[in-house]
Amino acid sequence: MTQANAMPSDALVQRARAAALRAYAPYSRFSVGCAIESVDGEVAVGSNMENACYRLGVCAEIAALNSANQSFGLDKVARIAVAGGHIGPDGTLAGAAPVTPCGGCRQAIYEAADLSGLDIEVISSNGDGSETMVSTIRELLPHGFGPASLADAG
Ligand code: THU
Repeated sequence: MTQANAMPSDALVQRARAAALRAYAPYSRFSVGCAIESVDGEVAVGSNMENACYRLGVCAEIAALNSANQSFGLDKVARIAVAGGHIGPDGTLAGAAPVTPCGGCRQAIYEAADLSGLDIEVISSNGDGSETMVSTIRELLPHGFGPASLADAG
């Protein structure tokens, strides 16, 4: 996908990694950051926020999507980077495996994609940014259910 003002994907991954350092994840100790870029090159970020009532925890992608909606609108989302792992003794994010969005987050990203008609690019990164996997939301959630699926609601 070509966009005006798009930053190199590794810069978006670095924004996601930086956001992970602001995660509140005392229970899982798994810090996730998400950076979302608009079609115009604006960036919104979020990180996971857990709770003593475990089930109330919020994923990084949901936090970032909410922020993106405030900043530029869900229908302007073009690219999403996710990075996660543990914060090491030196204060940096580490972790071997690229973090792909969980099922619920895929559904939330799909909502944005369905609004715009764009097949949003999702970059999944491991903790230190050395390994990334690039997909699109339609690859991650084939045959998804979204706003367009409600067209026959009457
Ligand atoms: N987590 C996210 O923030 N995004 C994902 O896509 C996967 C999981 C968070 C939720 C929880 O705070 C921690 O990672 C461990 O599951």
